[in-house]
Amino acid sequence: MSPPSSSILLFLFLLSSSLVPLDASHEVLRTLRSVPIAPSPSPASQPYRTGYHFQPPKNWMNDPNGPMIYKGIYHLFYQYNPKGAVWGNIVWAHSTSTNLVDWFPHPIAIQPSQPSDINGCWSGSATLLRGGRPAILYTGINPENQQVQNLAEPKNYSDPFLIEWVKSSGNPLMAPTPTNMINSSSFRDPTTAWLGSDGRWRVIVGSKRNARGMAILYRSKNFVNWVKAKHPLHSKNGTGMWECPDFYPVSKVPVGFDTSENGPTLKHVLKVSLDDTKHDQYTIGNYNEVRDVYVPDEGQIEGAGGLRYDYGKYYASKTFFDSEKKRRILWGWVNESSSTESDIKKGWSGVQAIPRTVWLDASGKQLLQWPIPEIEYLRTNKVELSRQVLKPGTTLEVNGISAAQADVESFFVAKNLDKAEAFDPKWTDPQILCSRKGASVKGSLGPFGLLVLASKGLEEYTAVFFRVFKGQNKYVVLMCSDQSRSSLDNTNDKTTYGAFVDVDPVQGFLSLNLRSLIDHSIVESFGGRGKVCITARVYPTQAIESSARLLVFNNGTEGIELTKMDAWSMKRAQI
Ligand SMILES: *[C@@H]1O[C@H](CO)[C@@H](O)[C@H](O)[C@H]1NC(C)=O
Ligand SMILES: *[C@@H]1O[C@H](CO)[C@@H](O)[C@H](O)[C@H]1NC(C)=O
Ligand SMILES: *[C@@H]1O[C@H](CO)[C@@H](O)[C@H](O)[C@H]1NC(C)=O
Ligand SMILES: *[C@@H]1O[C@H](CO)[C@@H](O)[C@H](O)[C@H]1NC(C)=O
Ligand SMILES: *[C@@H]1O[C@H](CO)[C@@H](O)[C@H](O)[C@H]1NC(C)=O
Repeated sequence: MSPPSSSILLFLFLLSSSLVPLDASHEVLRTLRSVPIAPSPSPASQPYRTGYHFQPPKNWMNDPNGPMIYKGIYHLFYQYNPKGAVWGNIVWAHSTSTNLVDWFPHPIAIQPSQPSDINGCWSGSATLLRGGRPAILYTGINPENQQVQNLAEPKNYSDPFLIEWVKSSGNPLMAPTPTNMINSSSFRDPTTAWLGSDGRWRVIVGSKRNARGMAILYRSKNFVNWVKAKHPLHSKNGTGMWECPDFYPVSKVPVGFDTSENGPTLKHVLKVSLDDTKHDQYTIGNYNEVRDVYVPDEGQIEGAGGLRYDYGKYYASKTFFDSEKKRRILWGWVNESSSTESDIKKGWSGVQAIPRTVWLDASGKQLLQWPIPEIEYLRTNKVELSRQVLKPGTTLEVNGISAAQADVESFFVAKNLDKAEAFDPKWTDPQILCSRKGASVKGSLGPFGLLVLASKGLEEYTAVFFRVFKGQNKYVVLMCSDQSRSSLDNTNDKTTYGAFVDVDPVQGFLSLNLRSLIDHSIVESFGGRGKVCITARVYPTQAIESSARLLVFNNGTEGIELTKMDAWSMKRAQI
């Protein structure tokens, strides 16, 4: 991620952009790693800290970096400011895990030390070279504040925790030059590299030329000497700067593939983080290895209006191939929706979303995402609601769970589809539609869904719900996450999010699955079995800790069947 445009943050960054001494308290003795941390509620002064999402004890965190599995250990690096709760002084912090749920901190892995990164160690990715040897390519900021790409390798390959990293003396390995036409302020975030059948590695780096977003392609035989290809892997005018590109193969079977795999049964995904809109947008297409270009499939939309991993707060994401469990796992940064002042006051900013597996939907036209199954081991005290009709006007409390830290899976069925309201073809933007038709706007089939992080008198709640409309020749399902009443504190960003869910009725019934991961100040919702994800950050003032409630509601004029609801309290993860 590039510096926030705010001049205050830029000023803070300039003030302290040189090498800073690192907070010794961040280093954890290796012997402490096996000591279990007793579950405890968040301190009263910190109602927004999460119980099972990844976040460091304090300070600023943004992009996930270099995720990988090495010798059975999962690694997560992340962009981190050791000095405060705002962006600046960026280094690579490092944690490891055996289950992607409980995490152990390690010392800072990569920090400014060479001319090629003296002004910051920005985002990058890990690649497992031949023999499974990890290598990290990352963006460094040089003394001229140019963006260049650097290599770091483990000091000790026998150490499964990869504590120490050594930078290549040849850094930078990729840099803007007077002749290569690269914009030195818009050249960052190298991907995991992939190996072509010609034995050469390829990597892309995000960039732009004027308004044209592009994925600049480099090739190398030895991972040290990189040659820029004549053409980018792909580019698209009008989309602006592409941050944190990601490029990987997928198939309709829910398994993952090594980044270097290609073939007639595989499709490729190109994801870019659009700097202009702060959205992670992807297309599905084909990678032509001979021409070394990526071509999105017919009908795939690039830029605004295209497919997104998440239609709420979710940015700078990155996947990796889990070779042990044969799956592709997606990490994504979830920014705060609170003011910088409150971030400084609470002493931290940023969480990572629960890792998701990603694969291709049967239609071949979009991805599916689902929280990794490991997270289910935190489930406890299951509460079940059995089959019942939610009559118009229903608000039904789900008792017996810790509603501030929960995992809820609901199965709704809409039956009287002929009663669906007509869909106006002018409603092209689902987010605008959701903000016009919030939870309090009655409809016929919907709004129905959940009120999460709700206070006793419903002064505060976040509504996650569906509406069903009758379109020209198919039904249109809208999924919304309405934050407008999420907090009595009006200094927060309470934007309502929305997306259309591509589901069809079966035998006249529309089945809609909704899974919500609720964790104090984050609500991650998965609609239509992973077809749409919406993540929201909310800061209730009353619906906190044991005062938070969970309800199911139907504010439409038609009854909706709740086939089943399973809700669990979630234990704290050890992070
Ligand atoms: C490398 O790591 C292994 C495993 O942690 C350890 O036994 C060995 O002492 C390390 N070697 C060096 C030179 O630090
Ligand atoms: C280079 O990138 C910077 C930073 O985004 C931008 O201000 C400038 O206009 C870009 N130049 C070109 C030619 O795209
Ligand atoms: C690229 O897009 C910009 C605005 O988005 C437009 O002004 C320009 O003409 C386009 N250039 C090309 C080559 O299409
Ligand atoms: C972070 O959140 C703020 C407040 O909602 C928003 O203005 C900003 O664009 C967000 N940044 C990213 C990278 O999502
Ligand atoms: C349901 O609709 C009524 C009338 O518009 C409104 O007062 C109420 O707040 C709505 N319920 C929810 C949960 O939004």
